[in-house]
Formats: sequence, structure tokens, C-alpha cells
Amino acid sequence: MSEKESVLKLLFFYSGDYITAETFSRKLGIEKNKVYKHIQALRLEGYNIDGQTNRGYRLSSADDVFTAESISKFYPMDAEKIRIFSSLPSTNLTAKEMASLGAPEGTVCIAETQTNGRGRMERKFYSPEKTGLYMSIILRPRIAPADALQITALSAVAVAETIEEFTGESAQIKWVNDVYFKGKKVCGILAESALNPKNLTVDYIILGIGVNLFEPKSHFPREIKSIAGAVFSDSFPEARSKFTAILLKNIYKYYGALDKKEFFLPYKNRCMLTGKEVSVNTFSTIYPATVLDINDDFSLQIKLSDGTIQNLSTGEVSVKLR
Ligand code: BTN
Repeated sequence: MSEKESVLKLLFFYSGDYITAETFSRKLGIEKNKVYKHIQALRLEGYNIDGQTNRGYRLSSADDVFTAESISKFYPMDAEKIRIFSSLPSTNLTAKEMASLGAPEGTVCIAETQTNGRGRMERKFYSPEKTGLYMSIILRPRIAPADALQITALSAVAVAETIEEFTGESAQIKWVNDVYFKGKKVCGILAESALNPKNLTVDYIILGIGVNLFEPKSHFPREIKSIAGAVFSDSFPEARSKFTAILLKNIYKYYGALDKKEFFLPYKNRCMLTGKEVSVNTFSTIYPATVLDINDDFSLQIKLSDGTIQNLSTGEVSVKLR
């Protein structure tokens, strides 16, 4: 870790408290006159650092700092694996490029805003600046392509649990990739797999997660206003860093023991479609059905109006509540 990074780490550690140049020097073993140089460099990178004669320096508590270090402060992980960009067309696309160049499992690609955020079925994901989390994680699981849906499912549970940890209120999952909170969609997940052409096993999965943390100042656009919502009504210091950290923790809790499928029941229990009347849209037809259950492979068990039972896998199918 460079001296500048150590200075930043200490500022985070004492978040909101002043630290004198003597303390920096003593704790980090760096010369006192170099502390100011590092503080200036950090300010140029966008950190809001107050300085007062005799008291030292402190990270402004109102600052919604969102960096690899601020995330790894709340969930210890290799900060070098987290890349944060101010703007990208789509974090899934950039993560895909990184993965095809060999980026390791667990590489995280985040953007403060996306100009072309992508959703399922060629839809767009509205990604305004600084009010949401737009993140793609490169995963290299040893699973069959048919099991890739599990990654979406475990992530939906991890997002719901994260929301619940912060708010104390329950979140629901709409099969297969949406998380709802207080009746509104607050998160969409787009997991995209790349296969190894030689043996047709999964080479990597780009797990893209978009969460509306706050309502944008200009509000949600008219087209999505009736369905889109936000997790929090007010901002709080380091909100994006804390949320990202807890979400990564919850994802890895399940991903680290994928074969145990411990996310199955938590998924099923939060499924908002079970027992409901829905419209199934296959893009060539739309038909009514009743949702009976979620199967072990996360397909949706439905009953058609003639009594036939069908299992819907994800792909080119969307299901709407009637
Ligand atoms: C959906 O609602 O259909 C899925 C939306 C997924 C959005 C996330 S935001 C981060 C990542 N990058 C993208 O372009 N899409 C995903």
C-alpha cells in the first residue's frame, strides 16, 4: 500500500475525527511534511478533507465518498479488485471486456452513472448519477450453463437481505431478476454468461446489479415512474460504500457455498408471484396463468387456464401481475 493510500485509510478509520500530522507520522511512519502533500493529492482526487491548524485533517462526514477503499473499509476485500468509473455506457460491457482479457474472479466494476445501462430483453436500466449503485462482478464459477440462473437468484436474495439489514423492512423478489421494496422495483439484475467454446462450460458470468438507492432529484422519468422506487428516502454519509460492502458480503455468503443452495428458501419465501394471477409474455404470445411455485432449478411453475402445468425458465419470457 502506498503512503497516500495509508493516509486515506487512516482518515477513513477515524471518519469524522481530526487527525494531526504528528499522529499520521507516528502511526504510519511517514515524515510529517509529506502528510500535507498526500492530503493535497487526495483532495485533487475528489476527497473532501477539512484541515484546521492545531487539529489536523478529517474526512468530511457529509461526503458520500465512493471509492475502492471506502467500500473495503466496511467489507474487507482486495481494493485492487474494485474499479470505480465516473461514467460508463454499461458496467456489464466494461466488465465483459475486462473478463475476456483475463480479469480474475471477484473483479468488481462500478460506475457512478451509466449512459446505456442494460436490462433484460433489450430494455434500458435508468442509471442517473450518484443516486444508485451500478455494479458488475466478474465470476468464474464451475457450473453448467443451465445452472447460471442460480447466480441471479442468489443475488436477488443478497440484495433483498441487504435492503432489509439497512431498513428493517422486508423486500420481495419478482421472478426472476427484480427486487421490490414498498411495492416498487428498486433493483434489477442482469447476469450474462460467456461459454468456453472448447467444452461449452461456463467461462465467466458478468453479474450486473442496479439498485436505486435514492430517488433522483429530477425524479424517475415518466415511463418508469409508476414502477420504479428507491430504497432510502434520505442520503446518509458513505451510503453507497456501506450498501455496496454489505451487498458484496451477502453475495459471497451464498456464492462461496453455491452447491449448498442455501439461498433457495430465502428466495422462495420472498417470491411475490406465488399464488398470483399473471400474464406470461413469450413475445410471440401473451397468455394468462396462475403461479403455483418456484421449482428447485428456479423455474416458475404455472397453471394455464385449461389446467395444464408448465415450467417457465428465464430467457425470452416475462411475467406480469394481472
Ligand atoms: C433489469 O432490470 O432487467 C436488469 C437491470 C440490470 C442493470 C444493471 S446496472 C449494472 C449492470 N450494467 C448494466 O448495463 N446493467 C446492469
